[in-house]
Amino acid sequence: MTPILEIINISKTFPGVRALDQVSMIVEKGQIHAVMGENGAGKSTLMKCIFGLYKQDEGEILLEGNPCNFTHPKEALHSGISMIHQELQNIPTQSVMENIWIGRIPYKGKNKHFRWVDEEKMYQDTVSLFESLDLDINPKAMLKDLSVSTCQLIEIARSVSYNSKLIIMDEPTSSLTESESKLLFNIIKKLVKQDVSILYISHKLEEVLELSHHVTILRDGQLIGNFDTKKIDSQFLVNKMVGRKIVDRFPKKDSKQKLGDVRLKISDFSSLDNKSFKNISFEVKQGEILGIGGLVGAGRTELIESIFGLRAIKSGTIEIDGKELNIKSSRDAIRNGLTLLTEERAKTGIISKASILDNMMIVKQRYKINEYQKLKVFLNDKKRREDTKAYVDSLSVKTPTIDTNISNLSGGNQQKVLLGRWLMVSPEILILDEPTRGIDVGAKFEIYSIMRELSAQGKTIIMISSEMPELMGMSDRIMVMCEGHLSGIIDGPSATEEKIMLLASRYEEKE
Ligand SMILES: Nc1ncnc2c1ncn2[C@@H]1O[C@H](COP(=O)(O)OP(=O)(O)OP(=O)(O)O)[C@@H](O)[C@H]1O
Ligand SMILES: [Mg+2]
Repeated sequence: MTPILEIINISKTFPGVRALDQVSMIVEKGQIHAVMGENGAGKSTLMKCIFGLYKQDEGEILLEGNPCNFTHPKEALHSGISMIHQELQNIPTQSVMENIWIGRIPYKGKNKHFRWVDEEKMYQDTVSLFESLDLDINPKAMLKDLSVSTCQLIEIARSVSYNSKLIIMDEPTSSLTESESKLLFNIIKKLVKQDVSILYISHKLEEVLELSHHVTILRDGQLIGNFDTKKIDSQFLVNKMVGRKIVDRFPKKDSKQKLGDVRLKISDFSSLDNKSFKNISFEVKQGEILGIGGLVGAGRTELIESIFGLRAIKSGTIEIDGKELNIKSSRDAIRNGLTLLTEERAKTGIISKASILDNMMIVKQRYKINEYQKLKVFLNDKKRREDTKAYVDSLSVKTPTIDTNISNLSGGNQQKVLLGRWLMVSPEILILDEPTRGIDVGAKFEIYSIMRELSAQGKTIIMISSEMPELMGMSDRIMVMCEGHLSGIIDGPSATEEKIMLLASRYEEKE
């Protein structure tokens, strides 16, 4: 049988980076083919070459045996290839159904000048699409009112709606919860039964081992190998991706390290609608890492955004070092030593038209401008560059220079730049919302090490995470939320996945 896709010796170079170097792979019909590799390995670039977003410099791509040279994604879609992008492509100001049928909106009336949108058909088509995928989303809701995970599910639904032969999924589960991911896996299994092929990129080892038939591994733009998933395990994957042996996934905490006094105290926090979260009280000590677990929709992001002054609250007080504070904006929060790394880097983090240098310096320059002034007037560009370079190096951001536009970095490397932005202001309290989303195993370890180092210096860290191993591996204590309530706080080292899941799925009202 002719394979659905053959990639033969593809190379692609960007200024200063050889993103793909003679990569070859074959995807069979009805196969789930995973592509893995560290941040910047070239995975997304390869997918974009297939989808017609980039043109490879060398090599050939065959679709069902025929050479395809797409110059635009439209041609790829037309030939039966669709793609879920790593960075969500939704239009927030439009409805769910408009987002699904974008470019294919059904019209009433044949004349191009006298036609109007067939809302009813669009609605019905969306309903049946969602039904077939077991999705419970209102087609008329506006995208901007929905969570990241719902937007990701919509993106998945859209890619399926093209009835493609091959669907490229670039980190489709990066912002999904475990149960939502299961939903996606069921969709994928159904598609594969109909002989659809899936190219699947993910940093989640367990997921790839469970789901895929075959894995292709890239490192620094080069093909490391194609493997039958049945014959490999997670250690093998990690070693091939990283090119060296990684023994521990989490750096150990120094057993001598003791926690200090209470640094942050949150009392009786309730959201304005009294629904997103309700009566939340907790404390975090100096040097402590507090994990926050829970399912998406549990109110975790809303809670920390409120603490950070981004959302108005109905009630609640914040104390730092025993002093009650009035935090009404992110500016107040930053001035009081708080920082927040948000979960949605595309929407709230990245300044896409700017360089790494500007993206990293933006906060520090605003709050500590005197460190970068010469004679109070001139900007000390040399120091800006030195400081940025130091963080780019210590976080191992993979880039030719610090003047590179941030949108040219791979997803994981963009995340590292944002982390650097906050580390630069040496905050006392760091709130990290899904800090390692889309980050590869090696770089994760680096970020965990930085967290350990900061806590050893007495900094306080709050980390929201949907990844169980990360919560258990890094937190001193884990606070679990369920439907806006604090359902329990457990000790990190003795936590189990079962205990966390139980608290995340059930809240018992106390008398
Ligand atoms: N448009 C571009 N211009 C310049 N360089 C680019 C561009 N796109 C990608 N690169 C570079 O090519 C390399 C491969 O990037 P790519 O996005 O393919 O990585 P990836 O494997 O998808 O990583 P991640 O897991 O972080 O998403 C990186 O070094 C990246 O900085
Ligand atoms: Mg990528």
